[in-house]
Amino acid sequence: MRTQVGIIGAGPAGLMLSHLLHQRGIDSVVIDLRTRADIEETIKAGVLEQGTVDLMRQTGLGDRMLRDGSVHHGINLAFDSGLHRIDLHELTGRAVTVYAQHEVLKDLIARRLADGGDLRFGITDSTVADLDTDRPKIRFIHDGSPQEVECDFVIGCDGSKTYTRFLIPQGTIRTDYFKQYPFAWFGILAEAPPSSDELIYAHSDRGFALISTRSPTVQRLYFQCDPESDPDDWSEDRIWEELQARVADAGATVQTGPIFQKAILQFRSFVCEPMQYGRLFLAGDAAHTVPPTGAKGLNLAVADVHVLDRALGAFYNTKNTSLLESYSMTVLKRVWRAQHFSWWMTSMLHRFSEDTDFDLRRQIAELEMLVSSPSASKLLAENYVGLPLT
Ligand code: PHB
Repeated sequence: MRTQVGIIGAGPAGLMLSHLLHQRGIDSVVIDLRTRADIEETIKAGVLEQGTVDLMRQTGLGDRMLRDGSVHHGINLAFDSGLHRIDLHELTGRAVTVYAQHEVLKDLIARRLADGGDLRFGITDSTVADLDTDRPKIRFIHDGSPQEVECDFVIGCDGSKTYTRFLIPQGTIRTDYFKQYPFAWFGILAEAPPSSDELIYAHSDRGFALISTRSPTVQRLYFQCDPESDPDDWSEDRIWEELQARVADAGATVQTGPIFQKAILQFRSFVCEPMQYGRLFLAGDAAHTVPPTGAKGLNLAVADVHVLDRALGAFYNTKNTSLLESYSMTVLKRVWRAQHFSWWMTSMLHRFSEDTDFDLRRQIAELEMLVSSPSASKLLAENYVGLPLT
C-alpha cells in the first residue's frame, strides 16, 4: 500500500491529524494495537480548552459535543475553609467544555470512517523501516495478514507507552526531561448527581481532591493517594468519606452513588526534544506527558497536530519544508508552558510527603494571593482555558 502520511496510534493526536489532513486532501492510514471498542470505551480526561472546542466545531466534529458537553465559565479553588471561584470567562473571554476524551474519539472515528478514512484497529507486530529515507515504511499484521504501507512521513501518536519514540537513535534526542511525583490520583466514576455546577480543586491537610463531572447522572472525582495504593483496599464508604473529608472545610458536600470505576493515575512530567527525526514526527503523549492537574494532556495533543497539519499542508502545496523543520520548536513552546502550569497547579494543591506545616501555610498563602489579586487570577485563568491555537 502507499499513502502520504502513516500515523501510528488512533488516540486524539493520530485521529485528529488524520481528520485535518483529509480536509486538505492529504491521504493517511492510521493503525493502532487496540481494538476500536477499547479506544472508544477507555475513560480518560474530560476538559477541552476553548481552542480544542473551536477546532472541533470548525472542522465539523461539534454536533455531539455541543449537545452533550457542558460549558464551564469558572472553576473553584477550595482551601482554608473557603470556596473561591475563578471566573474564567470574565477574566479571559474564554471557557472550557467538559466532554469526555473517549467521546471525542468516538466522534473522530465515526467521522473518519464516514469520510472513507483508512483506520486499522487491533494490528500486531508493527515495525517501521527506512526512516532515514524519504520513503519510510510501516509494516504490521492486520486480520492475520502482513501489510506494508509506504509513506512520505511517519507520525508517532502512540501515547505514553510509545514505541515510535524509541525508533529515534539515542544521542539525537533528549529524553531525560523527566519528573516522577511521590503521589498519584485515585479516580472514580460514580452514578450520582453533580456535587457542584463547576469543578472544585481542593487543597486540604489530608491532600488534594478534585470534583469533576461527566453528565447529569455520572460524576468523576479524584483524590491524591499513595502511588502504591490498591483500589481494592478502598471500599465505597471509605472513598466517599475521604472525598467528603477533603472538601468539608470549604463547605462542599459530595453527592454519593454507586461507584462503577476505580483507577490509580500515576503522576509524571516528561518532555522529549526534539520531537522529530528524519521523516518521523512525534505528537501528543508519545513526546510529552503532563500530570493531570492542569487538564492539559488531550489539549496539547490537539495543539501539536494542529501545527503538524499545517506544516504537512505547506509541504504538499509548495514543497516548502520550513514549517516541518520548525515543528518541534513551535510546539515545544506550548508544551513547556503547559509543563510549568501543570507542575505549578500540582505543587500548589498537593501534599508532598516531606511537607511541614510551614509548607501547608505557604500553599494557602499562594492560593490566597491567586484568588485575591485580579492579575494573579487572570494568569491562572489564561493558562487554564489555554492559549489560542495559532
Ligand atoms: C476530569 O474530569 O477527568 C478532569 C478534570 C480536570 C482535571 C483533570 C481531570 O484537571
